[in-house]
Amino acid sequence: MVSDVIDRNDRFRGILDRLATKSIDDYYNPYRLFEWPDRLPEDMWWMSPELTTTFGTEWAERLTPQQLHRLSKHESINFYSLNVHGIRELLIEVVGRIHTAGFETPSEFFHHFIGEENEHMWFFAEFCLRYGGKIYRQPAGGEAGDAEGTGSAAKIQSLLVFARILIFEELVDHFNSAMAEDERLHETIRGINRIHHQDESRHIAFGRELVDLLHQDLKQTATEQELADVSTYLRRYLKHSFDSLYHPQVYRDAGLEHPHELRRSLLESPARAAAEQRTFRKTIKYLEKTGLVR
Ligand SMILES: [Fe+2]
Ligand SMILES: [Fe+2]
Repeated sequence: MVSDVIDRNDRFRGILDRLATKSIDDYYNPYRLFEWPDRLPEDMWWMSPELTTTFGTEWAERLTPQQLHRLSKHESINFYSLNVHGIRELLIEVVGRIHTAGFETPSEFFHHFIGEENEHMWFFAEFCLRYGGKIYRQPAGGEAGDAEGTGSAAKIQSLLVFARILIFEELVDHFNSAMAEDERLHETIRGINRIHHQDESRHIAFGRELVDLLHQDLKQTATEQELADVSTYLRRYLKHSFDSLYHPQVYRDAGLEHPHELRRSLLESPARAAAEQRTFRKTIKYLEKTGLVR
């Protein structure tokens, strides 16, 4: 049982206690915390240029500063939209497991997690609607999809769910931590990224421990093929998550021509591979060290 592996682990219990206390100490009212100016200046960076999808490509040279600023605005709205969709999906999974067999021990922390994620979803959606007038839809195939070939065992499903949550949170945190510090960005933008980074550092610490334990538990019964399939699935998920930053509607909204061709050429550029590597450097190191990804 998953619960045995978790319950017998004093280290995990200690970490859960510490993170729950920190959640209580850091608790804030998101509905009062932020300043929401009616509008933010258009002609400025809305996202650190190094994090935009044209960075390091010929497009960063070819477009005017105004075009790049406008693109950074729409890319930032897409980034927060991805957060809204990602949070909805992870909330469904965590709500489905809290106080069920096997998840007794982390359930206390799940309460903080669910509460905090609901608030994150609120401020990301607020930003999108207020400054972008919409939440971008997820492109087709945006969901994680089923882990084909890995069987339907509940253990595998839970491992993949929490591994996906971890990968998603680490991707977002790479962006949040950079933008929180970036003095070229408006204070409202920096503030949202700063607060999210603060909360996510607890979620990521939790996720790394839980995913490792779920994996250790699975290894006791899984076949070699099932473990190989988990690895393949996670590698695909890493790539898929990064691809979702490249949204054709973003390029269209930024006034750029041939958005689908542009997306394709950006996805194929060496700059994209380098950016993906930078974003997931720590994540890959963790996944390889734990043996989740071979
Ligand atoms: Fe979050
Ligand atoms: Fe989170």
